Amino acid sequence: MRRTLLLGTAACASGLVLGSGGGVRAVRAQAASMSSSDERVFSLADQVARFARAKEENNRRYLDIDTVYDGSYLKGKRVLVTGGNQGLGLAIVRELVAQGAEAVVVGRRSSPDLDALGCQVITGVDVTDEAAVKGKMVDELGEPVDYVINNAGYFPDITDSVADGMMFSEQLKQIDICALGPLRVSEALVKAGKVRGAIVVISSQAGSAEWRTTQNADEGGDYGHHMSRAACNIGGVLLAEELKKRGVPVLLLHPGFNKTGMTSKYSHIWEVEGAVDAAVGAKRVLHEVRGATMERTGQFINCEDGLRIPW
Ligand SMILES: NC(=O)c1ccc[n+]([C@@H]2O[C@H](COP(=O)([O-])OP(=O)(O)OC[C@H]3O[C@@H](n4cnc5c(N)ncnc54)[C@H](OP(=O)(O)O)[C@@H]3O)[C@@H](O)[C@H]2O)c1
Repeated sequence: MRRTLLLGTAACASGLVLGSGGGVRAVRAQAASMSSSDERVFSLADQVARFARAKEENNRRYLDIDTVYDGSYLKGKRVLVTGGNQGLGLAIVRELVAQGAEAVVVGRRSSPDLDALGCQVITGVDVTDEAAVKGKMVDELGEPVDYVINNAGYFPDITDSVADGMMFSEQLKQIDICALGPLRVSEALVKAGKVRGAIVVISSQAGSAEWRTTQNADEGGDYGHHMSRAACNIGGVLLAEELKKRGVPVLLLHPGFNKTGMTSKYSHIWEVEGAVDAAVGAKRVLHEVRGATMERTGQFINCEDGLRIPW
């Protein structure tokens, strides 16, 4: 069985988009993206082709984030990160601390690696638990934050297809964590007056309906995970619209393909699809977080190349 978080096939690279309206515009933008890197608006759906193109073009932005990333903007900033005890979230917190930011981590539990960083950790907060989010998280947070990074997510190693059987309870759990989780956290923080800057949602390219025809071509599968990220994206766009009048930008990010516990089931394709260590992924994310401005509010960005992902 082919499992497709990020997997694509080169053969599908040009058959990117079916659909109407925005889809047609996306096709045009994609066509433009083939001709000149300056005109590119959208990233490529095919992850193998995307990574291969970056190597062909020696795209330093993609291949070596250190050539463009400057984390000095984070010095003295207060940043709340959910799910920061392991994986990408932990790497983001580590980078925040290294840059002199004041990180506050919110989650169910801490870890020895997180404890070693010495930042504030608010435990006992499951992002599906509205009472804990509105109560414990807000009560223990203190001063408002400059950035909220909704990073907590869930992608279990299960079967989820007609052929192998769908797990509806797991589908609902993924939607609860990955789509409603960022909304619960963001709503509680905004209502409590704890956001003085931007809200960032770590989503996934898996939420792009348009890209399913490439990344899940002829297979489908992973319904719960991919639906949860599509819902997450719509939640992010609505939040961006609602918070415009408050001057709070909302940015949706695909963090790239990171070598974490979540993707260990894909370790066989890590190298061909350009997976990176979480420390690199964290810099890619924080490079884009800097651009969380009102001009870009509501956009969905691929942190690998800085290009947009179509809905
Ligand atoms: N890795 C990738 O290539 C990739 C690609 C696309 C998107 N993403 C997204 O990036 C984020 C980080 O991924 P990762 O690879 O670092 O995953 P990971 O290693 O599995 O870490 C997930 C984090 O989310 C927390 N979490 C899960 N369920 C939670 C809940 N109900 N309440 C509070 N915290 C919860 C976990 O904490 P516990 O210890 O409590 O479980 C953990 O800290 C996720 O949102 C993921 O969907 C990752």
